[in-house]
Amino acid sequence: MSRREGETLFGDGTRCVHGGQSTPAPGAPLHPGPVFAAPYHLGGADSQGADHYGRAGNPTWRALEAAIGDLDGGRCVLLPSGMAAVSTLLHTVLRNGDGLVLPSDGYYATREFVREELGGLGLRVREVPTAGPWEDDVFDGVRLVLLETPSNPGLDVCDIAALAERAHAAGALLAVDNTTATPLGQRPLELGADIVIASDTKALSGHSDLLMGHISVRDPELADRLVRARTLFGSIPGPFETWLVHRSLGTLDLRLARQEANAAALVEALRDHPRVSGLRWPGDPRDPAHQVAKRQMRRWNGVFRFELADARAVEEFVQRSELVVAATSFGGLHSTVDRRAQWGDPVPDGFVRFSAGCEDSADLVADVLRALG
Ligand SMILES: Cc1ncc(COP(=O)(O)O)c(C=O)c1O
Repeated sequence: MSRREGETLFGDGTRCVHGGQSTPAPGAPLHPGPVFAAPYHLGGADSQGADHYGRAGNPTWRALEAAIGDLDGGRCVLLPSGMAAVSTLLHTVLRNGDGLVLPSDGYYATREFVREELGGLGLRVREVPTAGPWEDDVFDGVRLVLLETPSNPGLDVCDIAALAERAHAAGALLAVDNTTATPLGQRPLELGADIVIASDTKALSGHSDLLMGHISVRDPELADRLVRARTLFGSIPGPFETWLVHRSLGTLDLRLARQEANAAALVEALRDHPRVSGLRWPGDPRDPAHQVAKRQMRRWNGVFRFELADARAVEEFVQRSELVVAATSFGGLHSTVDRRAQWGDPVPDGFVRFSAGCEDSADLVADVLRALG
């Protein structure tokens, strides 16, 4: 929903429901269906600027981009997955020999992409843990600093505004992977970041049935370059998936509220559990990341982490649970656990990233406690 001067600034729930809506017209559907098109009719000389080919533009993308861009506070470019957003951004912004700062404890595929696919660029890559220390020389000669906060899977947090200021002072751009928080949980562009990227496969779409990603930026020229990169790479979202994400976005505010309530109830129930250690959730006032998180996050979500004794203990926990399944994603309707060591994350064998779903809190807490034995 784009706002003109004098228009009401609506709350998040309203913006999720109404974002990217078409202008009401008699007989038109409230939520128009996806537009499937490879070529469009070209028409005559007066149709300049109209859609001409499906790789370059699609009205279903634009509706969702308007909705997400409104929430992020920037111009949104939709991509078909979170990794498409990561790779398109890095390809577009980085040049031979550039300096790049990455989170050492963030989503592993981003580091792997830089190592395996951008190796030929001779980048000077420095990996820094999300919680720091952020030494003074980290920003020297750097083109792009990519943060991930809260980080996946450790859920550490860093101060976006302070790091954006330091990055800008050194002439670098600052990007934030905002997947865990979603635009309702955190607005990095409002905190001074230049770029926000996200995997919308997670809570933003939230039904575990598709992949999607996006990049939002403040600079219109960078937005144009990203659109051009999308068109030329051919890395484009499908209209049906795009439409499903838009439909799902309408309930993001509601889903996050239930997921947050469930995470809070589970964290409380597990805090002193004899089988559980290393419990972390940025929303917990006792969490080491809570103070920084509270300053910059607008609300919490359902993702927390803890450790059981070993891989077997995690397997037994999942087997005994009636409601929690093992799955390597998060932010969905269903409660899931992911034992991150199996994917190579540098965490103990029994480390679990728990994604609280939208089940009833009492059912979920009872089930988890029963499954832990
Ligand atoms: C923080 C983060 N960024 C990016 C990605 C990649 O997203 P996708 O799986 O949609 O490509 C993920 C996936 O788990 C993620 O957790």
